[in-house]
Amino acid sequence: MEKSFVMVKPDGVQRGLIGEVITRLERRGLKLTAAKFMKVSQELAETHYEIHKGKPFYAPLIKYITSAPVMAMVWKGPDAVAAVRQTMGATRPTEAAPGSVRHDFGLEVGRNLTHASDSVENGKAEVALWFDESELVEWGRSIDPWVFE
Ligand code: RTP
Ligand code: MG
Repeated sequence: MEKSFVMVKPDGVQRGLIGEVITRLERRGLKLTAAKFMKVSQELAETHYEIHKGKPFYAPLIKYITSAPVMAMVWKGPDAVAAVRQTMGATRPTEAAPGSVRHDFGLEVGRNLTHASDSVENGKAEVALWFDESELVEWGRSIDPWVFE
């Protein structure tokens, strides 16, 4: 089953929205596989956002993501990558669909509250970057047959 790396960014943590984000993903039926509350090192931030190196928003982005703790998570499910991105909403909060996290709680792209993997391939790479294999919890959830066909 697909895995998505999800992060409640520093603004989401500071604003007390960890629970809100987790609630929405749980309610959707996605399954929590790993979670840790942590400070992001400069090195990890630079590796995670390597693709954006050289862009005008790169330096502020690294500063933002290392400015306070984050909640790093792995969520699993059928089509988890697309489902999580839909729940989070478009990158720019003013373009995010009503009902999405970024729409409901955000205004600016540089304070858009969450991260979610943008492809299955990147999902795998990000899970491996942020978590040790031993931190991934494989578990049977009693409601699984009622959510997964
Ligand atoms: P993320 O990687 O954080 O889930 O966000 P995303 O896929 O929706 O957007 P992406 O293009 O990967 O951009 C990564 C993060 O960089 C910041 N950003 N700022 N000022 C700007 O124009 C700008 N563009 C992007 C945002 O925090 C975005 O989530
Ligand atoms: Mg991205």
